[in-house]
Amino acid sequence: MMKKLEQLRKIATDDISRANDSKTIEDLEIKYFGKKSELSEILKSIVSLSNDEKREIGPAVNSLKLELFSFIENKKNEILKSELEIKMKKEYIDPTIDLKNEKIGHLHPATQLRYRLEDIFKSMGFVIYDGPQIETDFFNFEALNIPKNHPARDMQDTFYVKDDVVLRTHTSNCQVRALKELGVSLKAVVPGRVFRNEASDATHEHTFNQIECIVVDENISIANLISTVDGFVKKIFGDNVKIRLRPGYFPFVEPGFELDISCLVCGGKKCPACKHTGWLELGGTGMIHPNVLKSADIDSSHYSGFAFGFGIDRMMMQKYKIEDIRWSMSGDLRFVNQF
Ligand code: PHE
Repeated sequence: MMKKLEQLRKIATDDISRANDSKTIEDLEIKYFGKKSELSEILKSIVSLSNDEKREIGPAVNSLKLELFSFIENKKNEILKSELEIKMKKEYIDPTIDLKNEKIGHLHPATQLRYRLEDIFKSMGFVIYDGPQIETDFFNFEALNIPKNHPARDMQDTFYVKDDVVLRTHTSNCQVRALKELGVSLKAVVPGRVFRNEASDATHEHTFNQIECIVVDENISIANLISTVDGFVKKIFGDNVKIRLRPGYFPFVEPGFELDISCLVCGGKKCPACKHTGWLELGGTGMIHPNVLKSADIDSSHYSGFAFGFGIDRMMMQKYKIEDIRWSMSGDLRFVNQF
């Protein structure tokens, strides 16, 4: 038995001294100290020995166990320390580096404006509603009182994905969606990306952003429409800015209006920026057409509402006096870094 212990000491010590990574040392720990290890078998067998043998073998096994244990522990600590050192060298972090001059990105001006608009509407009690950019013909057109083959379809050049699926041409696609999903009373705004099949020029892009506002409840009138638009325009452009409604045609509102604001450059005195009219076009608005309410299963004899839709990019151009909308998606840092 003593010979066996001596052999075990030699083999184990050799094995452990050769180990040089944490995986090997963990395996050796199991091999020499685990439940099925030789040492544990020997310990188990002691019970069956004579008392004399016990007296001799017992202390010898224990001392071997302690000896190997402290040997393997030391080796393990040594290995972990050197592995940590290697890792620290590889993943070196210098906390003294000065980052003041590093370039950190920021939000695009259209996104900044969108967030600002969302905050304003939230403060006025509106919920933010989101809808798909790839939309069915139904929600983009038919539900909005624009039947197939109706001439009003020509107002918006459309990208067709399939016969009945389009890239949404306006955020009005969410009018009936929001009404169906949230029901009345509804006060929601829908900011988002829209698409038109247009040749681009200084004031037109195929992809741009709108924000739609939808209010439906009992006793909603044009007075509510005007006060909401006026309140929001003053919050975004300042108290001196005036609004103006002109009759306009959109199939999903009746009456419908084009909405203008007094020129931000000359304050209405007429200048080149407003083409000498004193006014800038902001978007469309009107009282929601009964047929639209019907598409959302809402009783138009009991409920009424208004909607408006503005171009966020156009607002951005006016707010920051940007003369060409094509800068917006150019990805040109000389443009983006000005904001
Ligand atoms: N959806 C219309 C457009 O994109 C704007 C609009 C929205 C008009 C809501 C009236 C009411 O041109």
